[in-house]
Amino acid sequence: MARKTTDKIIFQNVDVLDAGAKGVCVAKAPDGKVIFVPNVVPGDNIDVQTFKKRKAYYEGKAIKINSYSEFRTEPVCQHFGSCGGCKWQNMEYDRQLYYKQNEVFNHLKRIGKVELPEFEPILGSEEQYFYRNKMEFSFSNARWLTEKEISTEGEVNDRNALGFHIPRMWDKILDIEKCWLQPDPSNDIRNEVRRFAIENNLAFFNPREHEGLLRTLMIRTATTGEVMVLIQFFDDNQTERELILDFLSERFPQITSLLYVVNQKANDTLYDQDIQLYKGRDHIFEEMEGLKFAINAKSFYQTNPQQAYELYKVTRDFAGLTGNELVYDLYTGTGTIAQFVSKKAKKVIGVESVPDAIAEAKENARRNNIDNCEFFVGDMKTVFNDTFIAQHGVPDVLITDPPRDGMHKDVVDMILKIAPEKVVYVSCNSATQARDLALMDETYKVVRVRPVDMFPQTHHVENVVLLEKRQ
Ligand SMILES: C[S@@+](CC[C@H](N)C(=O)[O-])C[C@H]1O[C@@H](n2cnc3c(N)ncnc32)[C@H](O)[C@@H]1O
Repeated sequence: MARKTTDKIIFQNVDVLDAGAKGVCVAKAPDGKVIFVPNVVPGDNIDVQTFKKRKAYYEGKAIKINSYSEFRTEPVCQHFGSCGGCKWQNMEYDRQLYYKQNEVFNHLKRIGKVELPEFEPILGSEEQYFYRNKMEFSFSNARWLTEKEISTEGEVNDRNALGFHIPRMWDKILDIEKCWLQPDPSNDIRNEVRRFAIENNLAFFNPREHEGLLRTLMIRTATTGEVMVLIQFFDDNQTERELILDFLSERFPQITSLLYVVNQKANDTLYDQDIQLYKGRDHIFEEMEGLKFAINAKSFYQTNPQQAYELYKVTRDFAGLTGNELVYDLYTGTGTIAQFVSKKAKKVIGVESVPDAIAEAKENARRNNIDNCEFFVGDMKTVFNDTFIAQHGVPDVLITDPPRDGMHKDVVDMILKIAPEKVVYVSCNSATQARDLALMDETYKVVRVRPVDMFPQTHHVENVVLLEKRQ
């Protein structure tokens, strides 16, 4: 039954049927259209109010939950619902895995339209909280107010915040007291930085006026116990800068890398910034199977390191190396997969577009005493060409781990041209992976598929596919 209000519609007693793209759930309106609803769980029965109407679907929000799904669980985080970071915290972990696996299957089936083997069961993460090794928090003097604060009479004076952007609101920051994603001492560091800054009248960034001292705080942790902290300042005020950095270094002796940057640009990305070392080393170490990887402030490293190990093991297993193979590792980043499989290969060639990452890959390989890996820098669609193959040889096994957009068509064409016996395709976006598999279907058969969950409490999922050349 539908009651109409202006242009918003209320549908009552609607069943939530599925969990869809971007972690939003799916229900069906009485007129047959799909309704996308966040913050609910499949199995809930809800009253929903729409706020957007499109030809094929509505977007809405639950205004009442009539009955709760058996797959619901109590979110552990006090910020759940406002933060937007862990959308599935209200769903049991086994059920999260079920929907992740389903999404991969649907993408490969519907977009890829390729013949599929039976999936190997999704590999869940042992750590379902405190699994992330990198968090970035923003300072703001425009704290997001709670509904209670807004409804209470009187002015709110304290508007300083250190936390996360409210989804789709670039200038509003949710103050975070406890985040369940990064292990200790992440919460303590953030909360102590905030307390010290407020007590010492250090100015939090004003995102509208572009003024203030404190802009962002990045914390990186490693399974080795090392900790990196980077504060991004807007004002170039040495006295205040040293005040807070000295405080941090004394209060948290476990920080092995203390860095800062002064950035007066419009945006706060660090990639084009000159990072300054204040104390310790400019990098921390991560370790995996005895291999050491140095991570600096700008390095990419898989954000769930324990589960990255599982992902790499699946990748190595799918590659089925015997020690005699020439292996290519496309989109190698800092060469972690290349080094991880190198003991079981004759030679590994890694290719990546970020020069710093390749410099680190070489340095890490040297430090790990690996001498059968070579790394090359450049845009894949340009570097990975006939000349490159003539120089380095046709690989027996090609591992590819592209960014979310998947592989460029020229890269896919080149793979088809050289046609290695095996391709192991690691992907963080099974929709683009499915598109690429479709392009390769005439030459390659999908023989193994195993999704791996790197990001519990979110809808994100990695997927590993083994392709073998058709005979
Ligand atoms: C998903 S990451 C994979 C990193 C690595 N395999 C790992 O596990 O750490 C994708 C990598 O592709 C690189 N990349 C993105 N676009 C590229 C391009 N056009 N050519 C080469 N590398 C690219 C990124 O810099 C990034 O390091």
